[in-house]
Amino acid sequence: MKKKIVFSGVQPSGVLHIGNYLGAIQRWVRLQSQTTNYFCVVDLHALTIRQDPEELHANTLRVAKTYLAAGIDPQHSTIFIQSHVKEHCELAWLLATLCYMGELSRMTQFKDKSRNKGENIGVGLFTYPTLMAADILLYHTDLVPVGEDQKQHLELTRDLAVRFNNAFGETFVVPEPLIGEVGARIMGLDDPTRKMSKSEPKPGHYLALTDPPDAIRKKIGRAVTDSGTEIRAGADKPALSNLLNIYHLMSGISIAELEERYRGQGYAAFKRDLAEVVIEHLRPFQERYAALDDAEVMALLRAGADRARAVAAETIQQVKERMGIVV
Ligand code: TYM
Repeated sequence: MKKKIVFSGVQPSGVLHIGNYLGAIQRWVRLQSQTTNYFCVVDLHALTIRQDPEELHANTLRVAKTYLAAGIDPQHSTIFIQSHVKEHCELAWLLATLCYMGELSRMTQFKDKSRNKGENIGVGLFTYPTLMAADILLYHTDLVPVGEDQKQHLELTRDLAVRFNNAFGETFVVPEPLIGEVGARIMGLDDPTRKMSKSEPKPGHYLALTDPPDAIRKKIGRAVTDSGTEIRAGADKPALSNLLNIYHLMSGISIAELEERYRGQGYAAFKRDLAEVVIEHLRPFQERYAALDDAEVMALLRAGADRARAVAAETIQQVKERMGIVV
């Protein structure tokens, strides 16, 4: 049977945190041996918010190294930088011609990121979802493993694929989002009502994948908790639910078992153990990350882009022919 095709990506726009890892990258690692995979560093997406050029350059390599250190295996998966495959921009334009202003205006990520910006909202921020649709559709992707915040973009991608197929003939596979039951929405340590986010300036908000043990202990020690003393998950316990989710995903111990284990114990013991679980889970990742050689990673990315381009170029050729473009 033909393997399913998987595509996903992370923006090189800040420090990667455990939300990116538990919502996306850890799940890619678990999937990769059963599927054909494209994992992209989506640098052109990061440009929709003003980036410092040196930072963007450094972050792009950091994201690729994060993929590798987390366990993405280049034998199973094509890892590449989005801007190295020009077809992403080309298809984004072609899809933009099929996409409606109304659809893009309804995207919550656009609404969030453009809030309080008055008239000075970048056009790229608005058309961002057409580039994301292009990323996915170029590779005949079946499955897109992402966190919950990307669900709406995936729905638009599906709509664009269907719209194109109806107008110009069966061309695109209509992809399915793959969103985990737990971990799809890791919340801020300082505020469990807000999604953990790279663009959040407060350091106590997120756990970075590269945080040293002391920082992890300090941040978890200071994490907001709920009223009461019980260690239990539930709608009335947003902070504890989030911490229990993190504990579960990093240890493999079920939430029910954790609740049992910490029955009658205070937050201090729970937090102390959670910090050690996170530190131990991240230790091999951090060791592998530190051992990666930049030149070798770059060579891998270039080879990945060559493989991705071969597929993308074929898709673009077909799309253009079907749209009546002289090729
Ligand atoms: P980005 O770079 O914001 O985030 C990368 C991945 O991490 C997930 N994520 C989270 N999961 C759980 N809890 C959180 N707090 C959390 N924060 C982030 C995101 O859902 C995502 O899976 N538009 C995308 C990048 C993109 C893409 C693509 C993804 C561009 N093209 C094509 C898939 C396929 C983004 O901004 O992700």
